[in-house]
Amino acid sequence: MLHTIVIFGASGDLTQRKLVPALFRLFCKGRLPKESRIVGFSRTDFSHDAWRADLRESLAANLGAEFEASKWEAFAANLFYLRGDIGQASDFDKLARFLTEIEPKGDVTRLYYLATAPQFYEPAIVQLGRSGLAEESNGPRRVIIEKPFGTDLKTAQRLNEIVHGVFHERQVYRIDHYLGKETVQNLLVLRFANSIFEPLWNRNFIDHVQITVAEEVDVGSRGAYYDTAGVVRDMFQNHLLQLLMITAMEAPARYAADAIRDEKVKVLHSVRALAGHDVRQHTLRGQYDGYLKAEGVAEESHTATFAAIELSVDNWRWQGVPFYLRSGKAMSCRTTQIVVQFREPPHMIFASGPHSAIESNRLVIQVQPAEGIQLHFETKVPDAGMMLRQTDLDFRYQREFRGAIPEAYERLLLDALEGDASLFARADEVEAAWAICDPILEAWQKNDEPALLTYEPAMWGPIESIDWMAKRGRQWFDTCPVLH
Ligand code: BG6
Repeated sequence: MLHTIVIFGASGDLTQRKLVPALFRLFCKGRLPKESRIVGFSRTDFSHDAWRADLRESLAANLGAEFEASKWEAFAANLFYLRGDIGQASDFDKLARFLTEIEPKGDVTRLYYLATAPQFYEPAIVQLGRSGLAEESNGPRRVIIEKPFGTDLKTAQRLNEIVHGVFHERQVYRIDHYLGKETVQNLLVLRFANSIFEPLWNRNFIDHVQITVAEEVDVGSRGAYYDTAGVVRDMFQNHLLQLLMITAMEAPARYAADAIRDEKVKVLHSVRALAGHDVRQHTLRGQYDGYLKAEGVAEESHTATFAAIELSVDNWRWQGVPFYLRSGKAMSCRTTQIVVQFREPPHMIFASGPHSAIESNRLVIQVQPAEGIQLHFETKVPDAGMMLRQTDLDFRYQREFRGAIPEAYERLLLDALEGDASLFARADEVEAAWAICDPILEAWQKNDEPALLTYEPAMWGPIESIDWMAKRGRQWFDTCPVLH
């Protein structure tokens, strides 16, 4: 099957920084289906050659030494550009004509990638429908929709309605790039291709789970967008809840899009709703010192750049096991990790041995940047009586497999070209995620509690979060991964 990828928002940042580099890497590895055409569509005035030259420059800068100049010409020969405005129906008709001109006769799979600002998703989808571009008599037609998918439950539902007015759900690929990360997929493998973890993966052995996505960077030049979104919309509704779903889901019957997504969505439906007073009790919010000075941020903005949220998953497996989700900008270091904290031994026979929750077994899944898994356990220190110390079994991707870990977009683009939606969010999944976040956002907007705390950049969020966890008899696992 031949392929055409149409990128709406072709002159934008995402296209330059992520999409075209991912497509070029796939091409260099010989993975991009032969003769895949890539068509850029946006308002900037480019000729085909000017767009190619622009991309070559940004790719070379982006990939540095990795840029394989010798492969560029062959890749560039299949790059095309069409100037067009998403608001103009006639530009979509022009696109439809252009695609038939450049595509060979016969069936072609088309992927429409919406890499535009979110307000253009709706008109673009409507126009794709009106101009016949979604129609499948000459091969599959698929649409990839970037995040954010809506800004709350209502807008997500509305967008889903618009999408379903034009495309069947099987044609829709809602991106969450966290699902394209190797280590996130490896969590599925860890859980469902090994037999030793499953018997322990429940309330009988696990005390709690911590999911942290800490970023060292602050909002930088994205203040205008970020100030309207905040950490819950930007990180929790999508990435953190995805990590929660994969950690907590039941084993699907097979590796197939609907089997996986059925199980994932059940997790979200089991999350106990937080409302009003619960939000006060189970969430913590903060803003880093200096945020208000960032470009595009409102003078007295109350936008949270850090949040910690305690969630309960009310089902047989997880009853009584809290999940602590935490994310923030301007934190100590960049790390995404899932910590599965096991229970203490029921009875400690070693008098001098440690006997606190934090010293019991712990499985740390390092999603990034030190991709790997560590299992922490107690060991006897040699020649020191019965002194104990925590040590770990340490698996690291770099040590084991060498080679660079591919960018999430490579896998996701390939899957979408091949029609595998396993690593994309389904309509009901996105809506269920908003249904968890909406009451939190509403309560934060209405109430002064929990207060918006200020934190120093390069810390693990507000200092108060240590107490917040201590009150729960627990401690954050604040460790920056060692890169080597
Ligand atoms: C994006 C958010 O979805 O994810 C950004 O909008 C955030 O604010 C980014 O920085 C984090 O992605 P990664 O892959 O760097 O962890």
